[in-house]
Amino acid sequence: MRDVAVVGVGMTKFGELWETPLRDLFAEAALACLKDAGVERGEVQSAYIGCMSGGLFVGQEHLASILCDYAGLNPMAATRVESACASGGAAFRAAWLEVASGASDFVLAGGVEKMNDGADATYCLATAADQEYEVYHGVTFPGLYAMIANAHMHKYGTTPQQLAAVAVKNHHNGTMNPHAQFSMEINIETVLKAVRVAEPLGLFDCSPVTDGAAALLLCPVEVAKELGKPLVKILGAGAATDTIALHDRADLAAIPVVGRAAQRAYEMAGVKPKDVDFCEVHDCFTIAEIVCTEELGLFERGRGGPAAAEGLTALDGKRPVNPSGGLKSKGHPVGATGCAQLVEVYQQLTGRAGKRQIKSPRLGLAQNMGGSGGSATVHILEVNR
Ligand code: COA
Repeated sequence: MRDVAVVGVGMTKFGELWETPLRDLFAEAALACLKDAGVERGEVQSAYIGCMSGGLFVGQEHLASILCDYAGLNPMAATRVESACASGGAAFRAAWLEVASGASDFVLAGGVEKMNDGADATYCLATAADQEYEVYHGVTFPGLYAMIANAHMHKYGTTPQQLAAVAVKNHHNGTMNPHAQFSMEINIETVLKAVRVAEPLGLFDCSPVTDGAAALLLCPVEVAKELGKPLVKILGAGAATDTIALHDRADLAAIPVVGRAAQRAYEMAGVKPKDVDFCEVHDCFTIAEIVCTEELGLFERGRGGPAAAEGLTALDGKRPVNPSGGLKSKGHPVGATGCAQLVEVYQQLTGRAGKRQIKSPRLGLAQNMGGSGGSATVHILEVNR
């Protein structure tokens, strides 16, 4: 296996982008990424593109070809990757493997989703839950995460205020991210008094419905050195799957797929959770950030809520989580999210994160998750200054 580096990134603004078709979103992110890397289109041999549902959201499948065509990347090889909300992370993993294997030198990892145009987003998203055992009985994703939240509250005493602390922190970070969908400060009261979606989750406990795209260019470390780029190496990569249906899991207050993917990434990287300087975590709902920080080993089980409320996960805290604003504030175009998280890790490691820059980080982690924990990827990146 060859060592692999990221040499360029690009992403669109996230939000309700009514005027911009799916293909334009991808082209904008992909071409910005190549420009950033200083690599010509003809040099890229392959692409993996995460997209959860072109068919339901915009009525278009056969996506890899049409997206690459519109970005002027044909006739290179291209594959669409689907793993629900973890599609972007899975695309990055596939691109990493193709470069590491020696099959290709320049591979694009991208993600795109347009959720505001087509069928009802709640219906489309729910196709990533278990149809027979969950969705046909009326459950949607806010409902599933509400069950996880209730179980966590019951088992560990996690409070609505602690859930709200996650949203307040991520909205604050998002005010410093020009790509974010929501860039306004909120406070604990805003979250607690907001309209209820699925008890105990209110509007501000939920990630929004978002359009957007993100892309990264990968190549062997030796090639990256020749390009004269900051050396951002993929140190660890882990992925795992689990039962989709919540009722098949032993403990509703846990999301084991994240712990398993993380363990594989830590082992490969040869690092411990305490070595990681910051994390981008899949906060599709506030409870998800709390449980995922526990699964990643940042905090003991049951300590994720208090840690958020005590400011440990703030930008200037001991364990910064979601400096980008996370899915909550930056937005969650499901197929693009995994790549957007890795774009943030790259920006932070190369000192390009502007006002939300963390001081001299060396190791950054991105954790992406499908549905209510049926799949997950974890990547650990290291910068060599
Ligand atoms: N956080 C904060 N504000 C939000 C928001 C969110 N998640 N979603 C919408 N809003 C705001 C809108 O900006 C709008 O504000 P305005 O009146 O000032 O313009 C207002 O709330 C109403 O927006 P609307 O689009 O009508 O909301 P909605 O009721 O249709 O949708 C949710 C709200 C929470 C149901 C929707 O965002 C949702 O389904 N989120 C979860 C997405 C999801 O499940 N993703 C996959 C995770 S696994």
